[in-house]
Amino acid sequence: MLSLPTLASLLLLAVPRTVYADPCVAFDIDFNLLAFGFGGKDFNAGPQDSWTSGDATDITASGRPPFDGVGTTCYLAQFFNAVYVLNGDKANPSDVHIYDATKKSWSTQKVTAGTFDTSSFKAILDHDTNVFYAISHGEMWSLDLGEQTVAKSDALSWTDVQTTPYGSDYDPTMALAQNHIHFIGVPDVPAGSVDIFVIHFSFFQPQPQSYSGASAFPATHGQTASFFQSEGVQQEFAFIPDDGSMTYVINVENNSTSTLAGPTSKDPKAQYAASITALVQLDSTGAVSFIPYKQGDASTNSAAKWATVAKIAAVAPAGTSASGTGSGASATGASGVGTAPAGTRLPASGTATGSASSQTGGAAAGSNGAFANAASFGSLASALLAALAFLQ
Ligand SMILES: *[C@@H]1O[C@H](CO)[C@@H](O)[C@H](O)[C@H]1NC(C)=O
Ligand SMILES: *[C@@H]1O[C@H](CO)[C@@H](O)[C@H](O)[C@H]1NC(C)=O
Repeated sequence: MLSLPTLASLLLLAVPRTVYADPCVAFDIDFNLLAFGFGGKDFNAGPQDSWTSGDATDITASGRPPFDGVGTTCYLAQFFNAVYVLNGDKANPSDVHIYDATKKSWSTQKVTAGTFDTSSFKAILDHDTNVFYAISHGEMWSLDLGEQTVAKSDALSWTDVQTTPYGSDYDPTMALAQNHIHFIGVPDVPAGSVDIFVIHFSFFQPQPQSYSGASAFPATHGQTASFFQSEGVQQEFAFIPDDGSMTYVINVENNSTSTLAGPTSKDPKAQYAASITALVQLDSTGAVSFIPYKQGDASTNSAAKWATVAKIAAVAPAGTSASGTGSGASATGASGVGTAPAGTRLPASGTATGSASSQTGGAAAGSNGAFANAASFGSLASALLAALAFLQ
C-alpha cells in the first residue's frame, strides 16, 4: 500500500495548474514593449532591436493594479503616452488603471459600470477620441478617457451607445483602423469582408466592406491588433484566426489583405499588441513572441519569422506570469504556476485570458468559470486531505 505522504503528494500533483491571473502587453509611444503582471511584476523590454537578448527592466511601481483579474487587457493612448488597463483588479473589475508612461506612475480611475458586464466584453480604444468602444452581449458601450494620463476624482461611466445589428450570440472579433471598428465573422458576412462601425457618425455601415488580396481572411473568430503609425490613426490591423494558421494584415486605405506567418504558439486565448514594426503575441502560458513587420513591403513580410522576446523570458519565464492568487493555489504551492511549460495550461482550468487582444481586446465571456473550478477542486482536495489525516 502506498504510504500516506505518497498519496498526499500524488493528490497535490493532481491539482490543476490553474493560472489565476492574466498579464498584458502594450507599448509606450517610443514603442518600448511593456509587460505588465508577469510574476507580480511589470517590465520594460525596450525597443524591438533589443528584444532577443538580455534582461527586461523591472518597472514595478506603487499604485499598480494587482493584475489578479481575468481577461486583463491594456491599451496605449498614443496622444498621451498612457496605458489603460481594464480588468487589472478582480476586486474592482470596473476600475481603469492608468499608467503614465512618461512619469512611470500609476493611478486608479473609478468607473461606474451600471449594467455594463465587466466580465464579458471586447473593446477597442479609439485613437483620436480616446474613447473605448466595447461590445457586450450584443450591445455597444462607450467609456470616454478624455485626455487622461492620471485618474480624476469623479467616476467615469460606461454609456450604452446602441444595440449592434449582429445579435447577442456574435462573439466579437473587432479591430480599429481609420476611426472605424471592423467586425470579422459577423453572421452572413463572407470571408474577406467585414462589417464596419463608423465612430465619428456612431453608425453601423449597412453593407460589408470587402478586401482584395491573394488570400481572403476567414470569417471566423480570432484576435486582432492595430499597427500604429508614427503619427495619426492606424491604417492596418492584424487578424489572427483562433486556429493560428496565418496572420492576416488588413489595410483599410486601399482595402487589401496581405499575410504574415501564423504565430508559432497556436493559442486561441493569446492576446496581441502591435507597434509600427512588430506584432507581439502574449500566449496564455505567459510566453511573449513577436514577428517583425514592414508596412508596404510584401517580400520582407512574407519572409518574416516569429521569435521569442527573450528579454522577457529571461526575467519572467512562461508559466510564471500569474500571480497565483485564488483558492486552490496554496494546494499546489510554488509549482502551481511556476513550472507549467508553455502550452500546458489545462483547458478545464484556463482563465480565458485573452480572447482579448491588447489593443482591441476585452474580457472573455464565462471567464469566471475558472474560479468556480478551482474552488470546487480546492474543496475536494481539502476533503481528501482531511480524510487522509483522519486515516493517519
Ligand atoms: C475602403 O473601404 C472604406 C470603408 O468601407 C471606404 O470608405 C473607402 O472608400 C474604401 N477605399 C477604397 C480605396 O476603395
Ligand atoms: C495597399 O497598401 C499597402 C500598404 O502601403 C501595400 O502594401 C499594398 O500593396 C497596397 N495594396 C494594393 C492592392 O494597392
